[in-house]
Amino acid sequence: MADTGTLHDAFIDELRDTYDAEKQLTKALSKLAKAASNPDLRDAFETHLEETQGHVARLEQVFESLDERARGKHCDGIAGIIEEGKAIMEEDFDDTTMDACLIAAGQRAEHYEMAAYGTLIAWAEAMGHTDAVTLLQQTLDEEKAADQKLSQLAEGGINQEAADASSPDEDEDEDEEKPAAPSRATRSRPSASDSKRSRR
Ligand SMILES: [Fe+2]
Ligand SMILES: [Fe+2]
Repeated sequence: MADTGTLHDAFIDELRDTYDAEKQLTKALSKLAKAASNPDLRDAFETHLEETQGHVARLEQVFESLDERARGKHCDGIAGIIEEGKAIMEEDFDDTTMDACLIAAGQRAEHYEMAAYGTLIAWAEAMGHTDAVTLLQQTLDEEKAADQKLSQLAEGGINQEAADASSPDEDEDEDEEKPAAPSRATRSRPSASDSKRSRR
């Protein structure tokens, strides 16, 4: 049986997948920006939306440097991440909890992109596509910076504000007495009472 696919073919395939992912993300980021309450978070999403439009353009340059036509191939991975983000936006959370969830959704997308660009760069290096390496590295740097910005916003206040809003004075143990608000308990982690129940 003849296997004719090469690393070059796989590389072009990954580029097409990533090109499509970036296009999907331009739409998703504008929704994330609109859903954000914190002005700094909205700015971060809007800034990264502009950068993402640049990522699409940069991938077109990469295709050109390889004498390939810029063409996308549906990226199921990012579509799933975006789908989850949409489901979160439909939840009835308080404003800061929603912001914390939007950050979580955004960071999932950034990490997916970082993984994709990491591979693309390594493969381009192995095959000696130096122009492609330079272009892809510029985008990877922006993905990393966007991810760090989101961490900064989460850890610099949004997470704590959300935590304070959800449990004004009580400590966690009291959750065992009465079931916590379902939207909260089922989201991020199993509650203490859930794990008790499953152990019996
Ligand atoms: Fe991107
Ligand atoms: Fe990104």
